[in-house]
Amino acid sequence: MSFKVAILASGRGSNFKAMVEAKKFGGILENVEFCCLVTDKPDAPAISIARENSIPVRVLSPKDYPDRQAHDNAILETLEAAGCDLVALAGYMRIIKSPLLLDRFKNRIINIHPSLLPKYPGSHAQRDAFEAGEKVSGLTIHFVDASLDGGPVIYQEKVDISACKSGQEAADAILRHEHVAYPAVVDWFSKGLVHVGPGGKVTIADGLARKGPRKSRG
Ligand code: GRF
Repeated sequence: MSFKVAILASGRGSNFKAMVEAKKFGGILENVEFCCLVTDKPDAPAISIARENSIPVRVLSPKDYPDRQAHDNAILETLEAAGCDLVALAGYMRIIKSPLLLDRFKNRIINIHPSLLPKYPGSHAQRDAFEAGEKVSGLTIHFVDASLDGGPVIYQEKVDISACKSGQEAADAILRHEHVAYPAVVDWFSKGLVHVGPGGKVTIADGLARKGPRKSRG
């Protein structure tokens, strides 16, 4: 049986593309079916990645709904209709606030953030880290809850940004790592390796996986 992953994206979708390519060429995600791309932006470049790979697209534009709750509920209906097992946010620029959606998909919605959380939450994480003079920043893959970039951490990876000359260079350096880490973590989920303890503590069951995505891919 396939493990169904829905992607929520608002923009270019390079992490989404990295996952699709990891499944095609990377020897991981064998069991994964990308069951749909949900986007809040009718012109998101991520849509063409989905179309090129025959992945169903659902455009749910906030302006078509009376309020945030109604929009989140439409997302929930779409995810349930798709029968998805995991929701991966990949550059989705809205905060999910619906308790219903967060509850129905508790511990099944994940996000990637380009900093070592709790440092530098928000939408300018790489620039903020660079401007603060950080030599090392990185990425965090975490569960989504009602907070801004605050849910339980699943995986973190440091990235050396000491040679970067701008926030954009730091973003590019981190993004290269994101493209390896995010598919690998989704692969862990698809293989049932991610467990959440009672206190929200996340453990990765497999010894190889625990050492990090690069090693887990052999
Ligand atoms: C990435 O930097 C990711 O960490 C953040 O949003 C950006 C999305 O990029 N959540 P892309 O749309 O996947 O290219």
